[in-house]
Order: sequence, then C-alpha cells, then structure tokens
Amino acid sequence: MCGIVGYTGLGFVSAEAGAVGHGAPVASERPLEVALEGLKRLEYRGYDSAGVALVGPGLEQVSFSKKAGKLGNLVADLESRPLPAATAAIGHTRWATHGGPTDTNAHPHLADGGRLAVIHNGIIENFAALRRDLSADGVPFVSDTDTEVAAQLLAKEYRASGDLTAAMAATARRLVGTFTLLAVHADDPTTVVGARHDSPLVVGLGEGENFLGSDVAAFVAHTKEALELGQDQIVTLTPTSVDVSDFDGKPAQGKRFTVDWDASAAEKGGFSSFMDKEIHDQPHAVADTLLGRTDEAGNIVLDDLRIDEAVLRAVDKIIVVACGTAAYAGHVAKYAIEHWCRIPVEVELAHEFRYRDPIVNSKTLVVAVSQSGETMDTLMAVRHAREQGAKVLAIVNTNGSTIPRESDAVLYTHAGPEIAVASTKAFLAQITAAYILGLYLAQLRGNKFPDEVAAILAELREMPRKVQTVLERSEYVRATARSMADQDKVLFLGRHVGFPVALEGALKLKELAYIHAEGFAAGELKHGPIALIDEGQPVFVIVPSPRGRDQLHSKVVSNIQEIRARGARTLVIAEDGDDEVRRYADEIFWIPQAPTLMQPLLAVVPLQIFAMALATAKGLDVDQPRNLAKSVTVE
Ligand code: AGP
Repeated sequence: MCGIVGYTGLGFVSAEAGAVGHGAPVASERPLEVALEGLKRLEYRGYDSAGVALVGPGLEQVSFSKKAGKLGNLVADLESRPLPAATAAIGHTRWATHGGPTDTNAHPHLADGGRLAVIHNGIIENFAALRRDLSADGVPFVSDTDTEVAAQLLAKEYRASGDLTAAMAATARRLVGTFTLLAVHADDPTTVVGARHDSPLVVGLGEGENFLGSDVAAFVAHTKEALELGQDQIVTLTPTSVDVSDFDGKPAQGKRFTVDWDASAAEKGGFSSFMDKEIHDQPHAVADTLLGRTDEAGNIVLDDLRIDEAVLRAVDKIIVVACGTAAYAGHVAKYAIEHWCRIPVEVELAHEFRYRDPIVNSKTLVVAVSQSGETMDTLMAVRHAREQGAKVLAIVNTNGSTIPRESDAVLYTHAGPEIAVASTKAFLAQITAAYILGLYLAQLRGNKFPDEVAAILAELREMPRKVQTVLERSEYVRATARSMADQDKVLFLGRHVGFPVALEGALKLKELAYIHAEGFAAGELKHGPIALIDEGQPVFVIVPSPRGRDQLHSKVVSNIQEIRARGARTLVIAEDGDDEVRRYADEIFWIPQAPTLMQPLLAVVPLQIFAMALATAKGLDVDQPRNLAKSVTVE
C-alpha cells in the first residue's frame, strides 16, 4: 500500500545545452520536484506519513525530510527547512504496518552515518531476528520499523563490499517477507538501487534521467516508456543506464511496455472527486474493455493467453479468487459462466481460499480478479493454486503488476487508472472481462455457437450507452441520498445476479459513508434478516427484469411487499416499464431494460451514486475514505 518514487538525472546543464540529459551531472531542484509530484500521484494508495531523501555532488550526507500525516506536512517542512539541490531522490508514502505513523517511523530510514537512505514497501517478516543480531553488533535503532532493519543490514553489506548493488542483493537474500526497497548513498549521488520481492516496482525510462515507481502513476507525467521488474530482481539506475540483475548478481531482464494512459487521465477531469469522475468513466470502462476482443472472423481472443486450448477444454471447475468489490464482480460472473459454459464456478474470498485446503488440480481454472494486480491475499491465492497444479487466468486493470506476471494468462480490463480507493469502474470492467472469458470458454468448448456468442457480445456492446443513460438520471439518486444523510443503517436485497449487486451496494455505503450497510439474498429475508425491518428502515431492492428468468421478478416483488408491510422504506432499482413494482416502492430508480445477465452493469450505478452523494452530504472524503488503502499489499 505504500507509494514509492525514485529519480536520477543529469540535471539542467545550461540554457544553450537545452533540457535534461546533456553533460556532466548537475545538482538541481528536479529530483525533489519529481519525487514530490510522484508521491502526490500515489496518494490514492492510502498512507499515513511521507518522506524524501536526496543525494548530490559534494553532499557528505543524505539530505532528507519525513513527516507523519499527509503530504502537506512534508511540503511544509521542506519549505521551512529547504534541502540542497541534488541529482538523485527517493520518495515514500507509508501505510503503517510495524510501528505507528510517526515522524521517526516515516521513511526514509538512514544508516551508515547518515550517508545511506532506504525506503520500503511491504513487510519484512524476519526483521526481529535480524534486529537482534544487528543490535548485538552494537547497531543502534531509532524506530520501531522493519525497514530500519533493512537499512542497517544494507549499510553493513555496503561497508563490506563498497558496492551498493551487491550490498542490496546480499541484503535481499537475507530478508523474508514482501519488499520493494530503494536506496541511495552519498558516495554515489547519481545512482538509485532498487530490489523487489512480491511487491511492485516499475522503471520509467527517460532521456538523461530515469525513474522508479511502485506503479506507473509515479512517473507517467514524464515518460510512458516503462520496464516491469520481475520477482527477485535488482535494478541499478543512473541518469543514462538501467541495469537489471537477480539476487545472485546475475544479469536479468525486465519486461518493456508502454503505459497505455496519460497523466491527465489520472486527474479529476472537472469532476468534484476521482470517485465521481470514475463513476462517469464507466461507459468507457466497459466499451474499452470490450475493444479488440474479437478477430476478423468474430471469434473472441484473449490478451496474453499462455494456456493450451486443450487444457482449457479439459477444465471441469472454475474457482474465482478475489477480495472485496473484485469478489462481487466474480460472483456476478459466476451466474453467466455457469449458464453459458455449464462448468461449476466457485467464488472464493482469496484470503479464505488457501486456508480451507481447497480441492484444486490440473483441471481447475483459477480466475484471479484484481484491479490493482497487487492485492497480497489474491496473489497468495494465485501462488497456492499454481502449487496445486491449477492454471491461473488473471483479470487485472493495472499493467505491469504482479498478479498477471504470476498467472498463466491475462485478460486486462481497460478501465484506466482507478484512483479513488473505493472501486467503481473497475467493477463494471471486471464483470465485462469475466463475461468475455465466459464467452471465450463457451466458444472454445462448443457450448455456444458463434452466432450465439455474437448475439451476447452485441448485448454487451449496448451496455456503455445504457450505463450512460443511468448516469443521466442520477440527480434523483443524489437528492434522495442528501435527504438520508442522517441514516445509520441501510439494507440491500437482490436475487440471482442482483444478490452480488446488493453486496456491492452495501460495501460502497460502508466504505464511503461509514454507515452500517448489509446486502442479503432476497430469498434469505424470511430466514432471519426480516427481523431487522422496523418503521422507516431504508431497504434498497434490486428488481430483476420482468422479462427475464422466470419467477425471479414476482418473488422479489413479494419480498418488497413483505418488508413494506413491516414499515420498511423501499428504494427500488427497476427497469423501465416495470409498472407492477410501482405500487410497492417508496422511491424508484429506473434503469434501461437489459437481459438478466447484463442488468448488474446498470443496477449498481445508482447504488454507487447514492453512496457517494450521501458521503458527500456528510462532508466525508469520497476519494480517500478513512482506514482504507487502494491496494492492500499486506495479508
Ligand atoms: C473496493 O471498493 C475496495 N476498495 C476493496 O474491496 C477492493 O475491491 C479489494 O481490496 C480488492 O482490490 P483489488 O481489486 O485491487 O484486488
């Protein structure tokens, strides 16, 4: 969950020599500017302290600043205590794991007499034993962090070898856990060394300058040419070189890619929040995820399929592993894939999956759904599945992330950067991508004729326009939300594909408005939850299409009558023309008609808007809700 930025550059030499990239290294303000700007773009990851470290020609020690709290605190400290011009910088936003969010525990952590600085993302599980050994050698510690142990270990290795890259490799070999480490040393003010194990690190390739980031948002404003580092790799960066090696010092290769979105896409684009922008991005998220998925013959093709077709034909079970919103997207997809492919689909919360001793073998296809591609629970589930012989297909939104790299196949969603911590457009894109996968399997295994696949694809291609229609109706939802700002409990009911939508609607309200919200399968109501209904209790009900699966509609209408009879305030999501539901609904949020399996892409949108509007009415930060991080990279 931490944000990491690294920079090294030759600096501006002179007006006649032009911009960055020519002549001998010259100290400037650019390293600090790039570091702070990168940290700003990484704020969405969630953090509770921040810091920067700089090195430059003639500086005996690392110069640094680090402060608990938001980036503003760091900037204020830098204004009151300016740092010298530099040639290299590392920056960090910390999400506290070992040790509270204090100035002392913030990164960077220094060692070697203040000449070495280290920043870290992840958890070092054997830090206590290492700290004991180092303390026994007289090494002093000033913080409660695992990172300081890595810094002191690196200093010890550096003093032994005099080579920061070799020292980083030696240190990395001794660490157990998950880590991305960046280090700079005053001895070599244009070099930044990084190491990664289970935690992300990507290189930004510039002209006379190079960048590092925990994701591309850190440097995409400066370059779109990137290099994805693999597991257990070290990168040594200078303004004009990028050398990759493994933890044994052998040369290694990163994977080049071009970032497919620009810095402006990560801005708010005129909306009041990233959340609002991303809810309105959803038609594009669905449309872009559908783009380029069929060949000229109309057959579905996947992005990066490293699974033999014969293996896919032999699959006899699918297990979806994911967390939070991504899990609910997987839950929606379960109904479609089982209906189209006649393969049993289990949906498992990733953090439960590997501890329940699941039945997984070479005929199991595990589908890992993740917006960030870095969720540690999901990554660990992927690893467990592969150890058990299953093939893994990743549905991920973030290019260059870890989960796709450790999967056998990838189906990227193209929702663009999702900055708000609470997921919205990624949810729709994940459902869309999972439907593409289901259609691909149905086509491959002969469950669906090409014309049937084409017909369902055509329905999917109608959805962006229909989502846009729902967005254009959002003022009524916002007004209703504002009138309910004092609510402290809201329930959500749905059946069939409406059930995971109810779960997602409840999660949005929890995350954004800090209200107790619970989603139920509507059929479960009489088995207990109906006891929660008292006078005025708001209950959202997602009503299936009256033209859809038999009985679903009538049963849900009965559920509405049951709760209304007990005083509930019914807020109904129903499709245009559904007159039957009118008499039982206190509020109706209309959505366009759509096939049963397509309805989740529409029904969830009013629930997203409701949660955002109610949170806004309460004066809450809808982009960075309390206690949450965008990417949960610790288990
Ligand atoms: C969604 O609103 C939440 N922020 C959270 O549940 C999220 O969906 C979950 O942590 C999974 O993240 P991922 O999609 O990046 O793996």
